[in-house]
Amino acid sequence: MRTFYATVAVIFLAGLSTLNAATYKGQKIYIETCKECHGGGQALAGSKKQRAWAKVMENDGDKLAQIHLNSKKAEASWPYFNSRTYSKNAKHLEDFLVEYAADSGNVPACN
Ligand code: HEC
Repeated sequence: MRTFYATVAVIFLAGLSTLNAATYKGQKIYIETCKECHGGGQALAGSKKQRAWAKVMENDGDKLAQIHLNSKKAEASWPYFNSRTYSKNAKHLEDFLVEYAADSGNVPACN
């Protein structure tokens, strides 16, 4: 398992060396915990503007957690959104989402 994480870390460090550390951490969290339900992180991040992400992620991501905890379809994510790991890392996730928000200039426009 440790080897697996190390390999993943190396691959992403190599690929994302231009991103700052916080964004990288957020992206890693996204890939590990959100991707299976939401698909590509940059696409999701690009679905909202920076201010909207800041709002969803304020108070350690409280609102984002509520959206999931109120949705039966998102049941598999409940343990994660209830965990301290989530609230502790919410800031990194926010950095990542804001970095690729619709109005960040970092996502190719396709509308
Ligand atoms: C088990 C599957 C699952 C996981 C894991 C999951 N989500 Fe979700 N997410 C959902 C579902 C289902 C909804 C729709 C809830 C609803 O509207 O009823 C949702 C809604 C959302 C929304 C709201 C979309 C909108 O238009 O307002 C955002 C943003 C979001 N998720 C981000 C994330 C992030 C970031 C993570 C990782 C920390 C994550 N999700 C993890 C299933 C998941």
